[in-house]
Amino acid sequence: MNGLKFEVDSQKCVRCGACIRDCAPGILASGEDGLPVLLPGSEARCTRCQHCLAVCPAGAVSIFGRNPADSTPAGNLPEPESMLRLIRLRRSCRSYQRKNVDAETLDQLKSMLAWVPTGVNNHRLDFAFVDDLAVMDEIRNSVNARILERMNSAPETLGGLLRYREQVLAGKDVIFRGAPHMLVVSAPEDSPCPAYDPTIALSYFELYAQSLGLGTVWCGLAAAMFSLFPDLGERVGIPAGYRLGYVMLFGPAAVRYPRATQPEPVRIHSVC
Ligand SMILES: Cc1cc2nc3c(=O)[nH]c(=O)nc-3n(C[C@H](O)[C@H](O)[C@H](O)COP(=O)(O)O)c2cc1C
Repeated sequence: MNGLKFEVDSQKCVRCGACIRDCAPGILASGEDGLPVLLPGSEARCTRCQHCLAVCPAGAVSIFGRNPADSTPAGNLPEPESMLRLIRLRRSCRSYQRKNVDAETLDQLKSMLAWVPTGVNNHRLDFAFVDDLAVMDEIRNSVNARILERMNSAPETLGGLLRYREQVLAGKDVIFRGAPHMLVVSAPEDSPCPAYDPTIALSYFELYAQSLGLGTVWCGLAAAMFSLFPDLGERVGIPAGYRLGYVMLFGPAAVRYPRATQPEPVRIHSVC
């Protein structure tokens, strides 16, 4: 037994070496009887990716007490055409119904987050969900009132928000777009990739949410509010030692796009 609980069912193992080859930090080796073994003293180098469990063709490898039979089996992936349609039809939604996403769908969205990749498989992101429209309204009203006050008293502190001056003064919720929900992702300062992991997580979240028929929008303006009003981080419970990554608004959309956009070509070049 080892601290990682790396275990191999010797009856099932076909000694193919797939787990050894696929181990990124290279801490598995072939033992005397051909069974994979953990190299002595290597446990701290394990990135906990579970590739050994996932790649085994015989389902013979277990780690961290996980039973390979409990894993999602490999099967047909979504057709590339479906993926492309999702990517093309994804739109930023700035118009929401005033109602919560149902609890089951919220759970589906939250469960998915365990699968998003993080640098060095760090997986210590914090996902702060505003689950309820009433809480979102309280945050929205507090921030919008303070913005309105600043628009008059110290507009120079508002940066890009000044572009929306007329709408803010007219009482429009240009920051939170009337969304019933908000997801704030933050990362530990000392994690390997705090600048990237939250954005990657939100990219996955956005596409999955839109595949479930929800509206989403990346919200730089909301993210800026966390710098302007530091108590906002406390309000949503960003843990000590964590830094804000990014913010996404989401909820049942009140706008429908019957067609995709036709974007300008992007700059691509081949390196020879
Ligand atoms: C990093 C990032 C920040 C954004 N911030 C905001 C924002 O604060 N408010 C907003 O309404 N839209 C915001 N958006 C949405 C963009 O404005 C939107 O992607 C763009 O207008 C194109 O529309 P589309 O997403 O429907 O293709 C942001 C998008 C990204 C990627």
